[in-house]
Amino acid sequence: MADRRPMIAGNWKMHMTTGDAVTFLEGVAAGVNEDTGGEVVICTPYTALSTVAADIEKKNLKIGLGAQNMHWEETGAFTGEISPLMLVDLGLEFVIVGHSERRQLFGETNETVNKKLKAALDHGLKPIFCVGETLSQREAGQTTEVIAAQIKEGLEGIGGDLSERLVIAYEPIWAIGTGKVAEPEDANDVIRHIRALVGSLFGVDTAQKLRIIYGGSVKPDNVAKIMAEPEIDGALVGGACLKPDSFLKLVNY
Ligand code: 13P
Repeated sequence: MADRRPMIAGNWKMHMTTGDAVTFLEGVAAGVNEDTGGEVVICTPYTALSTVAADIEKKNLKIGLGAQNMHWEETGAFTGEISPLMLVDLGLEFVIVGHSERRQLFGETNETVNKKLKAALDHGLKPIFCVGETLSQREAGQTTEVIAAQIKEGLEGIGGDLSERLVIAYEPIWAIGTGKVAEPEDANDVIRHIRALVGSLFGVDTAQKLRIIYGGSVKPDNVAKIMAEPEIDGALVGGACLKPDSFLKLVNY
């Protein structure tokens, strides 16, 4: 079994002004640099990225930084969009791609997600590639099939060793922001399926090294149980990552 470095990633979604972001970093500075052996990432709104990047550097914090979305083109007439070049320009390491809120509220499809994943990888950004089923898909027994399509179509035409360049986040849509966390064993089973699929597409070695994390109502009081599952390599956290004390409890689970 490959040694996969655990990752706790906070997705701030549409929260935090630049002032809030600086206050947050003050609040976590003392606790975030403890060496837990894990990787800590925050994905902030675009507007906070450069302030947060500068503050992470100034305070010498062990926090990786990411955006929550991007367009696939480098430049062009795409009003309101942000390109991979712009994210690289800020020195970012990560970008969330295909979050269910982007898919459900902003019309992203497996095809646009594929373009974004290709562009992110081409620019040396590490995508946190989100997949997950709706409640009705789960109840209809379609979880595996839906996720397989998201992964196959999302990673279509992408090659090379992805193990250090990509993170997959399994986020069942019915568990996001609802307080209904997936049973850790169930999430572990789905992630085992995802790993097997990645193995069939990219080889067993890549699949064993690739990190696959879980998201959906992860909180300080359930994180340890989730992280104890053998296939689950980390957590992508929304609501519970916004307050310093809660974030530090997650990071130091
Ligand atoms: P919550 O942790 O608020 O359920 O959000 C999960 C999520 O969507 C992270 O990307």
